[in-house]
Amino acid sequence: MAISPPMKNNRRWLIANWKMHGNPVRVHDYAYAVNAALSAVPATLEVVFCPPALYSATAMAALPHNRRLQLGAQNCHAFAEGAHTGEISAPMLAEMGIAYVIVGHSERRARGENDGDVAAKAAAAIDAGLMPVICVGEQAADYESKRTEAVLKEQLAVLKQLPSTRYLIAYEPVWAIGTGKTPSSAEIIAAHRAIKSVLGSETAVLYGGSVNAGNAKEILGLAEVSGALIGGASLEVASMKTLIATACGIMKE
Ligand code: PGA
Repeated sequence: MAISPPMKNNRRWLIANWKMHGNPVRVHDYAYAVNAALSAVPATLEVVFCPPALYSATAMAALPHNRRLQLGAQNCHAFAEGAHTGEISAPMLAEMGIAYVIVGHSERRARGENDGDVAAKAAAAIDAGLMPVICVGEQAADYESKRTEAVLKEQLAVLKQLPSTRYLIAYEPVWAIGTGKTPSSAEIIAAHRAIKSVLGSETAVLYGGSVNAGNAKEILGLAEVSGALIGGASLEVASMKTLIATACGIMKE
C-alpha cells in the first residue's frame, strides 16, 4: 500500500474538544489566550477550539479580527432546518463563523448514532462549507479480539462517497478516550494506514484518545498522524500551549 510521504501534505491540526465543560468566562479567556499563543505558529498548523455550541459566540467575541484560532462545534444535524427540537444545523454553525464540526464522536455513537447518521452529518457539514472531523475507532472488546481494522473498515465504508480532501478523520480507540491508556505507536500506525487504504492515501487522519503533554511528541511525530483530537488535556490553557509547542517542534524537525 502506498502511503504519502509526510512532507507531501504537511498540514497539521490540534483540535480541542471541550465536550460539556466550561462557562462563558472560561471560554472567553481560553479563546483569547490560546489565540495569542498562536502568533508565531506556522500557518500549516491549524488549532481549533470546540466549546459547547452555546458558547461559540462568546469564544468568537474574545478573538481579534485577524484571529489564528479556528472554532469548531461538537455535533450538527444532517438537515439544514426543520422540526428538530434541540438540534443545530451545519449552515447555522457556518453562519456563526464556525469552520469545523466533530461528527460521530464515540460518546454520541454510544447514544445511538450509527455509521449512516455520521455520514449524513459529514455530508451536511461539507455542503455548508465546514470541515467535518469524523470520529472512528474500536471498542475495547474489538481491540482485545484484534478486530480493530475490521471495525474501522465497517465504519468507513459509508464515507467513500465523500470527497476525501473535504474532511478529517479522527482515529479514536474508544477504550483510550479519557482513560489515560493509548495504543502503541505501531498500533496507531497500523490503524492510520488501514484508514488511508480505504479512503485514500491523501486523507488526513488525526489521533485522539488520552493525548497529553507526556505522549504528544511520540504520537504527533508519527508520519501517518496529521494531528490530534484532544479532550481532557485541552481544557487548560497551559496544557494546550504545551501541546501546541510540541507540534511546532515536530513540524520544524
Ligand atoms: P481525551 O478525549 O483526550 O480526554 O481522551 C478525546 C476525545 O474524546 O476526543
